[in-house]
Amino acid sequence: MPDRAIVVTGSLNMDFVVQVERLPAPGETARGENFQTIPGGKGANQACAAARLARGNPVLMIGRVGYDAFADHLRASLAAAGADTSRIHGCRRAATGVALIWVDRTGQNSIVIAPGANAELTPADLETERQSFVSAACALFQLETPLETVAAGLRLARSGGALSILDPAPAQPLDAGLLACVDLLTPNETEACLLAGREPRRISLDEGPELAEQLRRRGPRAVVLKLGDQGCYYAGPEGSWHAPAFRVEAIDSTAAGDTFNGALAVALAEGRAVPESLRFANAAAALSVTRLGAQASIPSREEVEQFLAAQPKS
Ligand code: RIB
Repeated sequence: MPDRAIVVTGSLNMDFVVQVERLPAPGETARGENFQTIPGGKGANQACAAARLARGNPVLMIGRVGYDAFADHLRASLAAAGADTSRIHGCRRAATGVALIWVDRTGQNSIVIAPGANAELTPADLETERQSFVSAACALFQLETPLETVAAGLRLARSGGALSILDPAPAQPLDAGLLACVDLLTPNETEACLLAGREPRRISLDEGPELAEQLRRRGPRAVVLKLGDQGCYYAGPEGSWHAPAFRVEAIDSTAAGDTFNGALAVALAEGRAVPESLRFANAAAALSVTRLGAQASIPSREEVEQFLAAQPKS
């Protein structure tokens, strides 16, 4: 489906990033270094990844930003990646979203977001894009815009037969009606535990099949569990697969999950089989972890292909 679009609905944030030795405890003042502002936002990161990695499928970003300098910077970053930014609307009632991010020396992070204009994206905004959803190959969503907007987008995608991919991040409870409209749900461990009604904790690979099936019973057609350094586990009507993670030196895990989702959408839109798509997405995510920042860390198609070609044959 090389000419059908990948439509990404979601947040755009300017990320304020500081590297710290270790993440501060509550009440603690920590000294950081290397402050940078880097384009981010889960929606924009997924659009950026899809646009950098696509070979023919156009990528369309739908979102809201304020009328400020951050908005210009965020639009420019996505345009440079190759995404269509014409459906990123301005908002007079709120400023562009921002995220405050600390990254420790192991690459782990803590993130606080102030959604600003992201919270003003409405179902009516998506309704005006009905044709884009109906003709799309894939429609990507996350949870940094209002839930009612995500639900409206999922329904539009379903009405046209686009493959909908929901990243349930940041973690929050979701009802069965919304989950029933999802083709592919891609939680990390925390999100999977919350949606399954379990205490948040690390999930062993052995637990993957049962947890994924428990989540599928809540509505989505297929589930990909993102299990960090254990890779990912897919369960869907075609079968189930584990795709191991690639070993890399971690600098910053910010946007690794977003890169995974953008890459997965590209591979599936190209008609690749699920195991190959998971491997492609794992490779893109692994490369993103080796660099600081969100959109600054997302690799190109050439980088991912070279990385995969250099892996030992299994
Ligand atoms: O997933 C990473 C993103 O989460 C960051 O870019 C930040 O903006 C927050 O939305």
